[in-house]
Amino acid sequence: MTTDATTQLTELTHLISEKRAPVAVIGLGYVGLSVAGMLARCGFAVMGVDINMARIAALQAGRSPMEGEEPGFEELITEVTASGRLNVTADYDGVRGARVVIICVDTPVEEETHLPVYKALRGALASLGPVLEPGALVIVESTIAPGTMTTLVIPTLEASTGMQAGEDFYLGHCPERVTPGKLLYNLTHLSRTVGGQTPDVAAAMVTLYTHYVEGDLDTTDLLSAEIVKTAENAFRDVQIAFANELAIICETLGADAFEVRELVNKSPGRNVLMPGAGVGGHCIPKDPWLLIANVRAQYEPLLIPAARAVNNQMPYRMVELTRQGLAAHGVELAGARIAVLGYAFREGTDDDRDSPSQYLIAALEAEGALPVVHDPYVRAYQVPLEAVVSGAQAVVLMVGHAAYRELDLAALLAVVALPVLIDGRHIFTAADARAHGFTYLGVGTPQAKSDHAHSGSDAVLRS
Ligand SMILES: NC(=O)c1ccc[n+]([C@@H]2O[C@H](COP(=O)([O-])OP(=O)(O)OC[C@H]3O[C@@H](n4cnc5c(N)ncnc54)[C@H](O)[C@@H]3O)[C@@H](O)[C@H]2O)c1
Repeated sequence: MTTDATTQLTELTHLISEKRAPVAVIGLGYVGLSVAGMLARCGFAVMGVDINMARIAALQAGRSPMEGEEPGFEELITEVTASGRLNVTADYDGVRGARVVIICVDTPVEEETHLPVYKALRGALASLGPVLEPGALVIVESTIAPGTMTTLVIPTLEASTGMQAGEDFYLGHCPERVTPGKLLYNLTHLSRTVGGQTPDVAAAMVTLYTHYVEGDLDTTDLLSAEIVKTAENAFRDVQIAFANELAIICETLGADAFEVRELVNKSPGRNVLMPGAGVGGHCIPKDPWLLIANVRAQYEPLLIPAARAVNNQMPYRMVELTRQGLAAHGVELAGARIAVLGYAFREGTDDDRDSPSQYLIAALEAEGALPVVHDPYVRAYQVPLEAVVSGAQAVVLMVGHAAYRELDLAALLAVVALPVLIDGRHIFTAADARAHGFTYLGVGTPQAKSDHAHSGSDAVLRS
């Protein structure tokens, strides 16, 4: 870095420490809106940019576009839009003058090849180039495949600005650790990996994040930051896959996976997670693929794709359990009315990206079953719960939303057409559900002896 560049960065760091550096946040989804809101609350003047006009319109009206249970979020957005510290626009001209630009656009992977799809990232970088202020700090918070900062972000920005990274503007990668349902808590409490193109850039980034992050701010280089983020989600995916595979082994052998798990976890250093109906969201299903994206030409990883395969099969296992539950009453899947409870990828959120329920529903429909879906947070399925379960021949629990944990089994039994309960989130115990008269099957739960064979009884409408 030249002396001029170092002096310019020192001045910028000073402006950031005094909250006098105007900030632009590109991409106002779960991540970007949280970051924009929090920086605005801290006292920065923030311009949020998004190409989604509905999102911009909601924010310009002072409303949060999020539907789930997101503690403090609605209040934050109301506060910072009313105070004028957060403004939003779909026009990149609004970025002019920003001294810090934070990129939070989506970074999915391609369904077949599992390779990263950088349409949003490339689009954001191309639009940013012509309006980027010389001397600005550009931070990518989106999760990216290791190597992307060097092979894509730097050359694209250099080409579109005509400036040199590290001299005329500064680059960092500070991946996010938020989770829908805990956005603001995670944003402010968790530690962060702060990757800078140089240690001075990382130090400038630390000055920024110190304003609202209470956790550690650990500095490193760009590549390590990229690996840390994708590795932490790949690790989680592998852990979940182990729990799911163990659950299938227990089910098959006739043991209770939840009891086995508790006993295994008594052994020092073991911490088997809970099995479930599948893994979804915009992070865990794709970040393992991002981690390995740029090594596959030289080394084909074995464990990480295997974990993906284990977790991806879980919605289909739920279909199998549903088939078995119905068979115990002499009913076939084709033509059966199936109440699917939960469409989001996890409890308490409206985020339905890559949710296991999507795969379950598609598979049920392919078999000729008639799924009806409920979710208290996903707009398309905000229908009365009773209307969905009434007359159902099987109730399939896919998400542990609070509304389902509070379900009264006796009341449920009174309205369903068949007492078949398939539990993908261990919301009920087998003993309780069976005591209420349900044919209960769940991931990791051994089947009751009576459910193994066809009972021979005709389906009886109970509603
Ligand atoms: N959702 C999470 O919990 C979470 C957690 C950690 C990391 N991440 C990572 O953060 C990134 C963003 O995730 P998200 O969940 O906020 O995604 P999101 O889909 O909720 O938000 C992305 C936003 O970017 C906007 N966008 C797309 N292209 C744009 C462009 N060219 N210019 C301006 N805006 C554009 C979209 O309209 C959308 O509103 C991803 O890389 C994700 O992997 C997400």
